[in-house]
Amino acid sequence: MSDTILLDRPDRAVTPQPQPPLGLLAEVTHRCPLRCTYCSNPLQLDPKSAELDTETWKRVFSEAAELGVIHLHMSGGEPTARRDIVELTRHAAEVGLYINLITSGIGVDDAKLDALIEAGCDHIQLSMQGADEGITQRVGGYRGGYEKKRAFARAVVERGVPLTLNAVIHRMNIHQVPEMIEKAVEFGAKRLEIAHTQYYGWALKNRAQLMPVREDVDRTIEEVETARARLKGTLVIDAVFPDYYARYPKLCNGGWGTRTFSVTPSGKVLPCHAAETITHLDFWNVRDHSLAETWYDGPAFTAYRGTSWMKEPCLSCERKHVDFGGCRCQALALTGDAANTDPVCIKSPLHDSIGTMATTESAVAEPGAATYRGFRAG
Ligand code: SF4
Ligand code: FES
Repeated sequence: MSDTILLDRPDRAVTPQPQPPLGLLAEVTHRCPLRCTYCSNPLQLDPKSAELDTETWKRVFSEAAELGVIHLHMSGGEPTARRDIVELTRHAAEVGLYINLITSGIGVDDAKLDALIEAGCDHIQLSMQGADEGITQRVGGYRGGYEKKRAFARAVVERGVPLTLNAVIHRMNIHQVPEMIEKAVEFGAKRLEIAHTQYYGWALKNRAQLMPVREDVDRTIEEVETARARLKGTLVIDAVFPDYYARYPKLCNGGWGTRTFSVTPSGKVLPCHAAETITHLDFWNVRDHSLAETWYDGPAFTAYRGTSWMKEPCLSCERKHVDFGGCRCQALALTGDAANTDPVCIKSPLHDSIGTMATTESAVAEPGAATYRGFRAG
């Protein structure tokens, strides 16, 4: 972000000169052995037949490195479901990207793990659905997942690769936060993300079943703070709390078209992973445009970059360069207009209704009625 932007008067709208991106989220496939109810993938998943081929992904990684990307987050779906995942990893490492593999750990045997590490995988982020078999199966819709994850975590740590556990928190597992912290220590993870569900894709569809009650959220904040102090030097705990209960919105993805971007399995280049929900945007595809063209000039990137697109109350707000008006996808989902203030913000006329909705939904819906992610249900 340039000084010009930071020093700009809050009542003036500016479009900044974009800097190169730092991170790329490569969703190399939507295929996945799990069917998590909180998945943020779109309801319309890309089938295998639509996925980019090996050479195109390799070109994407080369272009990303040339563009200035440092971190490659290899994700999905389950990225290791691709037969060429080792070849893709090797190429990404060769062009100088730091590779974070985001995986469920299911289906990654020791031989594949060894091959991924040998190819240049730098860091592994393992999803955690619960602290025991019952909750893990209930949330992810997969039998036997917990033990497989525990074995995978042990294998990663034994090989000296830094491991982060990512625990997405919601009403079905919020009571297990203390146990998940203990499991992270037991597994040998360096870092644990206690990330309350963000409501996009399948998670938005299941919002009523996933939304925790306010009291439980407040309790987890205390639990995390206590554990942080106790485990200082052993485990770093990052926490993301549900923004429906917040006063100000999050700085989503570091700002639209500012720090990171995503490429879908079929090659669409998105300013954020949920951007396809903003259906009036024109998403360029890596098959037709270079990443550099898309990052700097793609219409989906210029649409909400900076502040020139803003309406009131954001336009004259002193925080507009802090949070850039919050999340565009959430603004669309909750207000019908992606250019509106994210209604999580206390200055939004809809702020109170969002909190009321969260409270009401969390009080009535049955968690067991959530829809599992899948290729057909969308
Ligand atoms: Fe952020 Fe709210 Fe200010 Fe908009 S009005 S810039 S969302 S604090
Ligand atoms: Fe798309 Fe926040 S998820 S802008």
